[in-house]
Amino acid sequence: MHTLCLAPMLDWTDTHFRYFIRLLAPHCFLYTEMVTTGALLRGDAHRFLSYHPQEHPLALQLGGSDPAALRDCAQMARDYGYDEINLNVGCPSDRVQRGRFGACLMKEPNLVADCVAAMKEQVGGAMFVSVKCRLGVDNQQDFSFLERFIEAIQQAGCDHVIIHAREAWLKGLNPKENRDIPPLNYPWVYQLKTLFPALKMIINGGIRTIEDAAIHLSHVDGVMIGRPAYENAFFFRACERAFFPSSDFYDENIMTERLAIISAYLPYVEAQRIEGVRLPRLLRPLLSLFNGVSGSKQWRRMLTAAIQQGDDKACFSLIQEHIKKFTISGEFL
Ligand SMILES: Cc1cc2nc3c(=O)[nH]c(=O)nc-3n(C[C@H](O)[C@H](O)[C@H](O)COP(=O)(O)O)c2cc1C
Repeated sequence: MHTLCLAPMLDWTDTHFRYFIRLLAPHCFLYTEMVTTGALLRGDAHRFLSYHPQEHPLALQLGGSDPAALRDCAQMARDYGYDEINLNVGCPSDRVQRGRFGACLMKEPNLVADCVAAMKEQVGGAMFVSVKCRLGVDNQQDFSFLERFIEAIQQAGCDHVIIHAREAWLKGLNPKENRDIPPLNYPWVYQLKTLFPALKMIINGGIRTIEDAAIHLSHVDGVMIGRPAYENAFFFRACERAFFPSSDFYDENIMTERLAIISAYLPYVEAQRIEGVRLPRLLRPLLSLFNGVSGSKQWRRMLTAAIQQGDDKACFSLIQEHIKKFTISGEFL
């Protein structure tokens, strides 16, 4: 069920983006952006929790460290029909550290275990409870510490763990640097899987090719992919093809397949526009769809310009013109 996962990404993986990825990858497990317990308990919870029914299987990612608050949020997620609740123990931002959650929680395995236990107690077998973490913090390079951390959360009832296979360096690096600079160490994740064979493990970080994903899947239970979702969205389709070969609606022509995805997405865009959703939010998933195909830069430029004009008609006719041109001439641009 977690063979292929879309990573939680703030400001990206909102409901519209997830709907688009669902069209590309029907078997992908989708994760929301991180939502803090405070935002859910004191803010407009419906805005954060609502989603399209086609998004299933879907996980809500929470940021927090108060077991009671997490328990209440887990119940809200259950009421909304989510399939999984995931605790963020990987985000290194200063804001998150000040709130005492995210990656700094790796230093407090007992507290994380209490959080997991509180959520699991609330939702029982109705939903998965998972943790997304790093290999450690602040250049500790301490495998036995990591092992104890995983053991604590497993005993607390964690169903599976997602490991971003690098440390988070809490001082001196910003979140973006923390996604690139601490070196990736996949073998540690593989080793954890051999030590905890009953715990499902999903590996994350720097997975950019089908070949790499296939190697990971020979060691662990799933791969989670983040940035390619907005840098090269079609990678999700390639993963779907590779790992779920019996799925239907594959077209041998990768261009036709891309255009079919757009055609399937446009009615959703139109419906959301009627609801007042802003055009850039809805159309930005399309920007990287042709990466790697000749004409992709031109497509991105033209679509960006049309989006900036804020004119629905201009955007729709640009897109439809391209689909028509390809259908008639076999050429995209
Ligand atoms: C723009 C952006 C926002 C992110 N927001 C979150 C988040 O809300 N929660 C989280 O656990 N990780 C977040 N991450 C980290 C990703 O989930 C993922 O762990 C990281 O990008 C490494 O995977 P990748 O190399 O496939 O991108 C974010 C990453 C990016 C690029």
